[in-house]
Amino acid sequence: MSTHSALRVVVLAGGLSHERDVSVRSGRRISEALRNRGVDVDERDMDIDLLPSLIADPPDCIFPMFHGAAGEDGAIRDVLDLLKLPYVGSNPEACRLTYDKPLAKTIVARTGIFTPEMVVLPHEAFRELGAGAVLDAVEKAFGFPLVIKPSKGGSALGVSIVHTAAELPTAMVSCFSYADCAVIERYIAGTEVAVSVIDLGDGPVALPAVEIVPDGEFYDYNARYTAGLTEFFAPARITDDVSQRVAEAALTVHTILGLTGFSRSDFIIDGEGVPQFIEANVAPGMTETSLLPQAIEAAGLDLSEVCLALVNDAIEAHSAQA
Ligand SMILES: Nc1ncnc2c1ncn2[C@@H]1O[C@H](COP(=O)(O)OP(=O)(O)O)[C@@H](O)[C@H]1O
Ligand SMILES: [Mg+2]
Repeated sequence: MSTHSALRVVVLAGGLSHERDVSVRSGRRISEALRNRGVDVDERDMDIDLLPSLIADPPDCIFPMFHGAAGEDGAIRDVLDLLKLPYVGSNPEACRLTYDKPLAKTIVARTGIFTPEMVVLPHEAFRELGAGAVLDAVEKAFGFPLVIKPSKGGSALGVSIVHTAAELPTAMVSCFSYADCAVIERYIAGTEVAVSVIDLGDGPVALPAVEIVPDGEFYDYNARYTAGLTEFFAPARITDDVSQRVAEAALTVHTILGLTGFSRSDFIIDGEGVPQFIEANVAPGMTETSLLPQAIEAAGLDLSEVCLALVNDAIEAHSAQA
């Protein structure tokens, strides 16, 4: 039992994923936001000391901010569930469905939401069938440009937009260096938007869509984390009709994937004004240039208040379950 009267929260950030730096920055931002509301915050990394320290001195709540594998695939939350510790955000099952892009797209498509046509190719299938023959077939069916991405991942690492057959091999190698399964998708030209959903205890609410206009061809790693390289519009420059449609889609995604607390779904609004679902995130970035904090601001909300409400709601939901 704590002798402090302040709420004690452990923010989990860092981890060994490719997105370690981003996670550290997200974690710092959340910690700061909670400290602004008088919360006693400890920041912890994913290491050998983490579980013993959580067991020896359990906090009131945990705020997982690891990105990438283990952080977003459900693993860390599975372990927190074993320890019966309350945490902010989605449960392991929802994480598993969401972190696997082809799986999430398949589930979301069943609700009638559009998502770019894809093929999912494990490395072995590629090798055994012959890369040339497989890529030829993809090219004939989809045409260029094509999007090649790891089936699991984040921060656009291993993602390429391919315009010619000559660029395909390099894109595949880059993709397979991040995951053993590739998704090859039809390229959707249009307006990229991210819609964050938060649930502060009264059910999920969609925040204003944030529009992303990268300097280069797409929203790649540099465009994300180099200040000034990407222009954002919050709210997005889309019609009321489209913004309502994409808000509804984000709420459907949040619900059908079983997400809790907060999530961010990414869409491209195509030439016909139709939102095409790209992916959803259980631990969306919280850095200075990240989309969810911008959406919170556009909604006239305060990041500290939202974080505190998420913590309180997680504690409440956990004690109701026990
Ligand atoms: N089908 C697509 N058509 C056009 N652009 C895409 C498509 N899929 C992804 N992109 C671009 O690539 C970026 C990264 O892809 P995404 O699937 O969101 O991966 P990550 O999980 O790494 O963010 C997107 O933000 C978008 O700019
Ligand atoms: Mg994305």
